[in-house]
Amino acid sequence: MDSTKRDARVFELYEQLLDIEQRLIPTGLHVFGRPSSAGEQADLFRMIASFDRPEHGVRALPAELLDDAIGEFVSRGAKAATELVQRHGLEEEIARSLFALLENVRTKLQTNTEIDSLVRALRGEFIEPGPGADIIQNPDVLPTGRNTHAINPYSVPSAVAFARSELVATSLLERYRSENGRYPEAMALVLWGLDNIKTQGEGVAQALWLLGVRPVRDALNRTTSVAAMSLEELGRPRIDIVMTVSGIFRDLFSPTVQLLDKAVRLVAQLDEPPESNYVRKHVMEQIEQDACTLDEAAVRVFSNAPGNYGTNVNFMVMDSQWEREETLGDLFVTRKCFAYGRDSQGRAIEGREARLAMDHALSRVEATYQNIDTFEIGLTDVDHYFEYLGGVSKAVEKRARAKPAIYLSDSLSREVKIRSLEETVRLETRTKTLNPKWYEGMLKHGFRGVAEIENHVSNTFGWSATADAVDDWIYTEVANTFLFDESMLERLRDLNPHSAHALAQRLLEANGRGYWDADTEALAKLRDISRSLEDQLEGVA
Ligand code: BEZ
Ligand code: MG
Repeated sequence: MDSTKRDARVFELYEQLLDIEQRLIPTGLHVFGRPSSAGEQADLFRMIASFDRPEHGVRALPAELLDDAIGEFVSRGAKAATELVQRHGLEEEIARSLFALLENVRTKLQTNTEIDSLVRALRGEFIEPGPGADIIQNPDVLPTGRNTHAINPYSVPSAVAFARSELVATSLLERYRSENGRYPEAMALVLWGLDNIKTQGEGVAQALWLLGVRPVRDALNRTTSVAAMSLEELGRPRIDIVMTVSGIFRDLFSPTVQLLDKAVRLVAQLDEPPESNYVRKHVMEQIEQDACTLDEAAVRVFSNAPGNYGTNVNFMVMDSQWEREETLGDLFVTRKCFAYGRDSQGRAIEGREARLAMDHALSRVEATYQNIDTFEIGLTDVDHYFEYLGGVSKAVEKRARAKPAIYLSDSLSREVKIRSLEETVRLETRTKTLNPKWYEGMLKHGFRGVAEIENHVSNTFGWSATADAVDDWIYTEVANTFLFDESMLERLRDLNPHSAHALAQRLLEANGRGYWDADTEALAKLRDISRSLEDQLEGVA
């Protein structure tokens, strides 16, 4: 390796280390009804102060001032902190606005009416409404314990969400192009309800950008239509997209479902060459192949049957109730093959079974994608990412006869980051599951904390099952950290032997299904540990 290459490699490594070091992670669970501790509050202030907030007239504190300024704020108050940052050259007005915002957050964090509100809700009494979002994104979610109201779906996507999403869509396509030498003709997107509430529709806006259309407001300022950007303006082809929306999204964002469907149908009918408009290209091919109508060939928005939710892929994985991986993708399609939108006669399509249309649409997909918008909930925290993004990717693999490229965005950091699924699993594992700061934070919660650690490992396993996206070292290090370290094993055994046993079993399953190439010694040790935990659970030991 020559010295230029070596320097480039070292720099790449340095960037990866920074990525891991700077990643924000939750360090423990919220305890219902308990206000956050002083230490947690200081961390939160630091995070809130690291972002520009034009809506509050606030600019991010420079990194070198952050610790001192927040320390001063916590110990001596807003006035002293304002003076301190002014001495470092920050404008008075901006400093004042920032610490007024933090003071407001501090006051609201000290009151916690969660239990009282719950009791009142159970009595059927009125609960004051409040917005739902990530605290760092929108401190107005405080105080907690209010009735989270959603959003006006006609306001989605907001102007800010639409503007922010251009760069995400461009980066996503550039990432694919850098790896494949061309744009993907079709992508599958997952859209969730809560995420689009929190971001005022960033996921929706990204979908519109991929199609090359912009939202159009009517005389009542409601987003009810779309207009195509010109191909010159777009500077690239329009990408065909297959959208799977959650049941929650379908219920909360009914006008948005209509908007997305309308966007696809508009693009399908533009008089443009096939190499610049993959939606039209594929719709025309489908019409030719099946002698079907444009209405049938342009179905792209899918969800559950009315009244149903979820893919069940997570339950099938967690219960080990499957033999071949393709069953997981088939289950995804069975649950999600219901079309929503409106046909060319203006008739509503409200959850019409459209399995064949979904099979066809997925058969052209070359990349799958989901937007991640929060520091708190990532790929391994819940089973929903793998049930959706993993489920659709597995469904694509069989129908397109090739594994799709799988991407996630990180739209909360200041610069947009697109990562492959494998990169994201590694990052999540290093910053959460295997990070002592994270797991010690969990272990403080005793029984529940061990269950969380086991959940993370099982959710990671879900990415093996649906996408083969987990490196061997991850399982090896999980075994080393939690089960082969004797004092750690003792702690887990004392706090929650059920979850410790489940963890050992999951690792054995990972090996049994070919996801983890472990040596025979490790496997023997794991079986011993599993057996002894089982004895303990059965009261034999
Ligand atoms: C949603 O907000 O749409 C959602 C929430 C949890 C799991 C899946 C989807
Ligand atoms: Mg492997």
